[in-house]
Amino acid sequence: MGFNNWNTTACRPEFNEAMVKAIADIFVSRGLKDVGYEYVNIDDCWAEPQRDANGDLVPHRTRFPNGIKAVADYVHSKGLKFGIYTSAGTKTCNGAGGFPGALNNEQRDADLFASWGVDYLKYDNCNNQGVDAQVRYTRMRDALANTGRPITYSICEWGRTGPPRVWEWGKDVGNLWRTTGDISDNWTSMIGKAQANRSLARYAGPGHWNDPDMLEVGNGGMTPAEYRTHFSLWAVMAAPLLIGSDLREVSEDTFTILKNTDVIAVDQDKLGRQATVVSASGGHVVYSKVLANGDRAVALSNETTATATIGTTAAAIGLGGSASYTLKDLWTKSTRKTTGAVSASVPGHGTVLYRVSRGGTSQRYEAEDATSVSGSTVDRNHSGYSGKGFVNTPNATGSYVQFTVNAAQAGRHTLAFDYAHAGTADRPASLSVNGTAAGTVPFAPTGAWSLWRTATAAVSLNAGANTIRLTATGTGGLPNLDYLDTLEVGS
Ligand code: GLA
Repeated sequence: MGFNNWNTTACRPEFNEAMVKAIADIFVSRGLKDVGYEYVNIDDCWAEPQRDANGDLVPHRTRFPNGIKAVADYVHSKGLKFGIYTSAGTKTCNGAGGFPGALNNEQRDADLFASWGVDYLKYDNCNNQGVDAQVRYTRMRDALANTGRPITYSICEWGRTGPPRVWEWGKDVGNLWRTTGDISDNWTSMIGKAQANRSLARYAGPGHWNDPDMLEVGNGGMTPAEYRTHFSLWAVMAAPLLIGSDLREVSEDTFTILKNTDVIAVDQDKLGRQATVVSASGGHVVYSKVLANGDRAVALSNETTATATIGTTAAAIGLGGSASYTLKDLWTKSTRKTTGAVSASVPGHGTVLYRVSRGGTSQRYEAEDATSVSGSTVDRNHSGYSGKGFVNTPNATGSYVQFTVNAAQAGRHTLAFDYAHAGTADRPASLSVNGTAAGTVPFAPTGAWSLWRTATAAVSLNAGANTIRLTATGTGGLPNLDYLDTLEVGS
């Protein structure tokens, strides 16, 4: 979370030291820092067109008369972080033919950035001389690592080259990667970025995010409803929230959107899962994002210009098996109960964003704390897991995981297993409760090892300790198991 000047100033003269310092001031004075905005980043056109006699980059003499380090120091003095920009090419993207880029100067430029106290690098793709993107971006990764300074690394390759595409290799190279070309401050551009980015959920996770580009909220080209849609969709997609408007000039409405802490909490949720699309038809799109506490953030998004009822169900978002649900509208802040419908009338270009919680008392049991068949491992190589990892059992009939769960009272409970597997066929398991058969859980494919889904089952539990065992009935074994949530349904 932070700021970048590009969407508001591009290379115009108002991009200068005074602006950057003012943004840092406003982050503090207007409480943006308090709600999580941290990085103050500068974009293209911060440099002079020529390197100096040593070959080093030179800060633009008019925009940054005191150099970049002075600005970084100022930003740091506010308890914030500072980011810079260059290109993985011989020149950057703008200015007369671009400013000097870092291709073939990777270590020199990384060292200079580190000496200035840079905390974040956006590394663009212009003038790349046809050198392979993975090669270019990996070189800068290594150069940044060599500096010894932790620097968040933003790959700005626009999802342009490959296969392999940047989302397939970006995780090992950077912390975030642009999945699209440049956003502009209008509905068609913004929703196009969301449409391209939303199919890439499997690639996002803690420390490695899809980046559908920076925010346009507050720049004036969209209606308030469209900006709320923009912010809502970026949040459910766990996208970087880089403010792109000049905070010295924006309206109070803009601050209200940018400082909506309920929406920010969806974006920053520590599980780090990107929403998946539950349904999309005729411009009516339902997104669901699993949150760390088991709630779902559900965006009901209307890409058409006509008001429409858009909805889904608790079962369709993996929350089945409860008698009641609470829907909190994260924009109006109103709360209501339902028995399973998650639906609203949504104006054209609007988005209703709900936080959906199951009624009743639930309890989480991590699979890595359960007992499992010998040969099982606790793995961490696919992101999005809760707790310390997930359990990977041998691919064989009879593989099992056994949980001991505590019920406050005897009676009906819902079991909700969080799992993933990239197979093409179900991985069915028999379920037993206290040694008695209690049905079968099919465990349908989730589409990728890093796409998690919830399978539910209805059982009766005794008061106190209960043994729940899942045993694979097919040779594929069990899926990867992340956790079991138990929910009291009532007797
Ligand atoms: C490219 C990037 C933009 C911006 C400009 C600057 O177009 O994708 O985000 O950094 O360059 O020139």
